[in-house]
Amino acid sequence: MSAAGGSSAVLTVTVRAGGDAYDVLIGAGLLGRLGELVGGPATQAVVVCDENVAPLYLERVLSGLVSAGRRPSSIVLPPGEQAKTQATLALLYDRLYDLGVGRDDAVVALGGGVVGDMAGYAAATFLRGVDLVQVPTTLLAMVDAAVGGKVAVDYREGKNYLGTFYQPRLVVEDPDTLATLPEREVRGGWAEVVKHGLLAGGPTLELTESGAAHPAHPDPRLLEADVRFKAAVVGRDPREITGARAILNLGHTVGHAIEAAGAFAGYSHGEAVGLGLRAALWLSERLAGLDAREAVRGQELISAVGLPERLTGVAADDVARLIARDKKVAAGTAGFVLLESVGRPVAGMAVPAKLQSEVIAWLLNR
Ligand SMILES: NC(=O)c1ccc[n+]([C@@H]2O[C@H](COP(=O)([O-])OP(=O)(O)OC[C@H]3O[C@@H](n4cnc5c(N)ncnc54)[C@H](O)[C@@H]3O)[C@@H](O)[C@H]2O)c1
Ligand SMILES: [Zn+2]
Repeated sequence: MSAAGGSSAVLTVTVRAGGDAYDVLIGAGLLGRLGELVGGPATQAVVVCDENVAPLYLERVLSGLVSAGRRPSSIVLPPGEQAKTQATLALLYDRLYDLGVGRDDAVVALGGGVVGDMAGYAAATFLRGVDLVQVPTTLLAMVDAAVGGKVAVDYREGKNYLGTFYQPRLVVEDPDTLATLPEREVRGGWAEVVKHGLLAGGPTLELTESGAAHPAHPDPRLLEADVRFKAAVVGRDPREITGARAILNLGHTVGHAIEAAGAFAGYSHGEAVGLGLRAALWLSERLAGLDAREAVRGQELISAVGLPERLTGVAADDVARLIARDKKVAAGTAGFVLLESVGRPVAGMAVPAKLQSEVIAWLLNR
């Protein structure tokens, strides 16, 4: 248990992206201290969350803001990816306008990646930009979505089609909030944690392996290592121009195809990425010189966090076709990300069609 306002350690990672620098604070109980942490000039702080997070954490955040002398208000959105639309965004702008939000006020995004992306996009565009504080409450958002400054909403079939880069002023991560996260969401978040572990190697991978034993309660030091890793990659390519960010696609080429082949109703993003990471390890052994023992180590880690062992309920042809489409559409991500060894990714690897078919067959039959 950690007391609000308590003395538990706070880990800090400074993210440098272009000319911007901001801190990610990680520590149990930080949610109760948000009022004092928000900083900046904001008199009004508008907390944006969804209907699932509101009953769990909104009250605590609002009363913390009041204690710190801020004038808080809240906007509660419908939950889920299906709400990540222009229609919800319009609702958000309406409320910000009605609340009289000005350039000195702040938007606090309290929730998973959906709320972070939507509130972030609204904050980036409302009055050409108001202060944004990201308070991620899912594992995926803590290690991935809240770090790096990408904000977006979906448009028609296009995921994240309308978006921009907008760095928050602060990110506050309270691992205690993960205690209420549904198990499937925890597992999904672990796919990105495992991805970071394989890309970073070394102590980050070791922390990932020891953390896999109790997935719902990740060690704050693991969150710190993941944030530090993503921050370093993002720092080299803040606006996704140089290609340095491409390595973050490890497992995602095959993963996206599997996700889409299940018409977004079968495998969750994280489960599909878990299978994509298995495919990347298999291909890395054949094409990038990954040592067989390291490939096994990766496969065991994916199993340890409860991600799927094999592909089911999806036609191999659909996955193959969708991989080809993904390669055509996603600019700047030509080729696969593979591993020469753990901690040594290579982007832009060509994978012959025959091997693509073989790896799908392997996923189906392993
Ligand atoms: N901006 C980026 O760089 C980036 C990176 C990766 C993913 N994303 C985006 O993130 C989104 C996925 O994020 P997500 O997986 O966090 O999904 P999400 O925001 O939909 O959250 C998952 C579910 O958990 C609930 N929830 C959130 N916190 C909770 C808590 N502490 N306790 C109980 N329930 C809780 C939510 O209401 C939701 O139902 C996608 O839209 C994706 O495009 C963005
Ligand atoms: Zn992902």
